[in-house]
Amino acid sequence: MPDDGAVHVPVLLREVVAALRPERGGVYVDATLGLGGHARALLEASRETRVIGIDRDPSALRIARERLLAFGDRLVTVEGRHEDLAAHLDRLGLGRVDGILADLGVSSMQLDLAERGFSFMKEGPLDMRMGASGPSAADLVATASREELTRIFREWGEERMAGPIARRVVEARDTAPIRTTGEMRSLVLKVLGPKRPMHKDPATRVFQALRIATNRELVELERFLDDAVQRLALGARLSVLSYHSLEDRIVKHTFQRHTAGCTCPPSFPVCVCSRRRVMALVTRRSIRPTLAELGENPRARSARMRVLERVAENGAGPGTPQG
Ligand SMILES: C[S@@+](CC[C@H](N)C(=O)[O-])C[C@H]1O[C@@H](n2cnc3c(N)ncnc32)[C@H](O)[C@@H]1O
Repeated sequence: MPDDGAVHVPVLLREVVAALRPERGGVYVDATLGLGGHARALLEASRETRVIGIDRDPSALRIARERLLAFGDRLVTVEGRHEDLAAHLDRLGLGRVDGILADLGVSSMQLDLAERGFSFMKEGPLDMRMGASGPSAADLVATASREELTRIFREWGEERMAGPIARRVVEARDTAPIRTTGEMRSLVLKVLGPKRPMHKDPATRVFQALRIATNRELVELERFLDDAVQRLALGARLSVLSYHSLEDRIVKHTFQRHTAGCTCPPSFPVCVCSRRRVMALVTRRSIRPTLAELGENPRARSARMRVLERVAENGAGPGTPQG
């Protein structure tokens, strides 16, 4: 089967391996397998390590399977969404696991293929779907109301000119459908003006927003994180790499919620809320790529990694001393 020569340089690779400690052996989940760069490092760390690799993109899975063939049945691939982690693990007869990785966002392969429509730098259909089904970005742009488009551009692109851009899109689609990345970009530039040297492309935020909306990226991230935390064995860690502030904010807040211990007022002699700290942050602040990594892989520039560890089993009754 052809490998397509697709390239994706795994981000924060050393840091991910150090965080997840795959050399201890056990079952690890790579919830966003992509082309398998991180999974390879996990599998190479020990012969006793197995990886369940999930991805919603069948072409990525095909390439990863082929590249990781040498690891035989130590790699099991699952085509699906990471939000359905609990169902995937149940189907495989797995309960708790020894580590989970989520490297969110798109792979370089997805960005680089013009026909996937993720990039305003390449002329292609306005598709942006990571999976093989569902409405494309062009469908969304054709059918969403002006108000909905404004909300998408504002909330998921943090675009200050969301309203005027949405108005321009609605006016334009009344004349002719917006089908390509180039058509979408030129509409945005009509509102925001041309690209200035040394500045980001003006269409960056709108393209980010459309990608998030098309793939429902942020809607179910919290559900994935909650399920992932529940599936960690004692001493196991969850490592999440995010690539923009909206994603990182959800990871940070969900981790804070899971690491909060007793919430009783300090004046109470014993705990009555029954909340016990079962998770701990391994990284107080997010971990960023080093300058050396950025020199080799500029696409890592916005990456942030946060890591959480299960430090106790669930459940404690009232009367536990506070801590
Ligand atoms: C940044 S890439 C992962 C790259 C991978 N770590 C590697 O080293 O090759 C992100 C991958 O996550 C997949 N993905 C994004 N959202 C997903 C979701 N909700 N469920 C499953 N896979 C998802 C994308 O299709 C993409 O292949």
